[in-house]
Amino acid sequence: MVADFTSKVVLVTGASTGIGEAIALLFAKLGAKLALVGRNVENLANVAKRCEAEKGLKPLQIVADLATDAGCDKTAMDTILYFGRLTGCVNNAGVGARTNILLTDMQTYDRVFNTNVRGVYNLTRQLVPELIKSKGNIVNISSISGSAVSVGSLPYSMTKAALDHFSKLIALELAPRGVRVNTVSPGVTVSKFVQRLTDYTEEQYKEWLEEARRSVPLGQVCTGEDVAKMVVHLASDDSALVTGTIVQVDGGLQYNTVGSLMQKQIKTK
Ligand SMILES: NC(=O)c1ccc[n+]([C@@H]2O[C@H](COP(=O)([O-])OP(=O)(O)OC[C@H]3O[C@@H](n4cnc5c(N)ncnc54)[C@H](OP(=O)(O)O)[C@@H]3O)[C@@H](O)[C@H]2O)c1
Repeated sequence: MVADFTSKVVLVTGASTGIGEAIALLFAKLGAKLALVGRNVENLANVAKRCEAEKGLKPLQIVADLATDAGCDKTAMDTILYFGRLTGCVNNAGVGARTNILLTDMQTYDRVFNTNVRGVYNLTRQLVPELIKSKGNIVNISSISGSAVSVGSLPYSMTKAALDHFSKLIALELAPRGVRVNTVSPGVTVSKFVQRLTDYTEEQYKEWLEEARRSVPLGQVCTGEDVAKMVVHLASDDSALVTGTIVQVDGGLQYNTVGSLMQKQIKTK
């Protein structure tokens, strides 16, 4: 079944690049009215233009820093003022950190938690009353790092574990009000995410991706489109009875990571 979003209004955070960009474009193809959030004005405008080219619907562009309360307030207020209603929210904006307990500092902790947890919590709480009115739904973008333990991604993994728990808990809180809440957990996905954490050149990033690909049981890293298809499916009426789920889109990587960690432990005993 092809999902129809022509009567829907969807907010996508982190829509200016990567996975959020692919999510916005797929919703635009399916006729959704869109509110798109990001910090980079130029990138956001480019994505909005490409979305408009799909069905002629001009997305609302919201330039906001969701790590701040002011950014969350502005996003919620502008969306509701502009459209007067909301049927879907995709909390996709997120940042990473590569550190460990010996190297970390509280600036890193605050930056990652303020974006990936506090921002999602604050924005969601402000949008829920509208989603209750529309019997709408939420899709949160987590990561397989939220459940698999991967050394080097502290405190990013902690934020995604918190997000997973947030999603499951509010799914139960909101089910009696007719609002569904689901999570998509990508594995390694082509985007700007890794390059923001490293000083990799394009060539080094390609090599890194190739190495990552070899660990993926299905033999491919994800694209934004792979993740977007699952997001749209969960946000659509085809998933009317689906809530509280966490769907991995990772080519089986999570189980492979856990498997190899367990093997290592067995060998060292
Ligand atoms: N790529 C992966 O391998 C992977 C794997 C698992 C999960 N994920 C998750 O997928 C989501 C999207 O990541 P991505 O891979 O697409 O990375 P990306 O290319 O770096 O995109 C991140 C997006 O989030 C936005 N963003 C970041 N901080 C923000 C803030 N404070 N306020 C508003 N917007 C903010 C960015 O906007 P600006 O550029 O405009 O600031 C950008 O649009 C994240 O939640 C990430 O944790 C990614």
